[in-house]
Amino acid sequence: MLTTVKVAESIYYIGVNDRETYLFENLWPLDKGVSYNSYLINDDKVAVFDTVKNTKINEYVEKIQSLLQGKEVDYLVINHMEPDHSGAIKALKATYPNLQLVGNKKTFEILENFYGPIGSYLTVGEGDTLSLGSHELKFIMTPMVHWPETMMTYETINKILYSGDAFGGFGSLDGGVFDDEVNLEFYMDETRRYYSNIVGKYGAMVQKALKKVKDSGIEISIIAPTHGPVWRTAPGHIINYYDKWSRAETEEGVVIAYGSMYGNTQQMADLIARRLSDRGIKNIRIYDASKTHMSYIISDIWRFKGVILGSCAYNTGMFPTMEALVGKLENSQLKDRFLGIFGTASWSGGGVSNLNKFAEKMKWQQVGESVEALSSPKEPEFTKCREIADEMADLLLKERKPGTNAFSSTIY
Ligand code: FEO
Repeated sequence: MLTTVKVAESIYYIGVNDRETYLFENLWPLDKGVSYNSYLINDDKVAVFDTVKNTKINEYVEKIQSLLQGKEVDYLVINHMEPDHSGAIKALKATYPNLQLVGNKKTFEILENFYGPIGSYLTVGEGDTLSLGSHELKFIMTPMVHWPETMMTYETINKILYSGDAFGGFGSLDGGVFDDEVNLEFYMDETRRYYSNIVGKYGAMVQKALKKVKDSGIEISIIAPTHGPVWRTAPGHIINYYDKWSRAETEEGVVIAYGSMYGNTQQMADLIARRLSDRGIKNIRIYDASKTHMSYIISDIWRFKGVILGSCAYNTGMFPTMEALVGKLENSQLKDRFLGIFGTASWSGGGVSNLNKFAEKMKWQQVGESVEALSSPKEPEFTKCREIADEMADLLLKERKPGTNAFSSTIY
């Protein structure tokens, strides 16, 4: 029995779960799986919204066939072309040869680059509408959330926004499909990890998309993204978080991430953390970049205002896992953090000097002086580590709103 779930009258969730893939985009760990969400409206005309990854074609097509009992699919609305959602387009077209593909000009360019000509295109633009019978669809162009062709589709009777990647997150849908059926704490962590690593670079475009939806005056009752829970009870909740994340709004706290081969750089991290704690900072997360995948570290860096990075030297450069982390941070163009730098030089140096170059590029406000110990830290370096912690704490406490503490404005 394949699971389809009713979202509203004549509207169904027809997505699939992926618990087998280790790495999303062959890069981001899927310890908790992921869902590829797709939806179907069964009106005079039948429309499907986005498809699924190609490893799930059979399950997906069978779901549609069992729902429609011989009726044809007339339209496939392609809100996003990344292969985790476009992987079953050819299979759907082969099953329903009269199917028309609905997308914008860019959608079809990308589609043909990936899959070659498929045919029967219905090109739509900003504000265009499409009637299915009693349901009407309206198209909203939202480029770069998270590819250039991305768009959203609004269904006017039930006020459902089919939003593509926007408002989505990691985590398979294990029974519960709707926001009121699941533990949101679990999904919000995975949604922030998804946002910060996949969509975060395009924060300005997310803001633009949010403004466009707001200015259009449409009322949203349900948000139906391509990953994670369907927001039918509290769509405002996820809109609010996307707004905060795309404005890089932070909480009080510090992420300390380091690369250390023999524990000397780690000692400096522990000392800094203890000093921060002595100064009243409660949200402190220390990560060994060799052990924790950078996607989790980046998710927390997205959350907290303070970032302290440490590296030993490795073959005259930065430690490789830290190099990967700062490379991704640089690529994400994250702004407005407080930054501290520490590390050890061994016989060559290269860790701290390259972190300093990173600091110059990011233009984050630096706390204390960068400190580098020769092979192992001694009292002069420990003193400088305490100064980094003190300056970080001073800045964070200065931003703390009177009458609040570090726990009073949790934004996940
Ligand atoms: Fe879920 Fe940008 O793909």
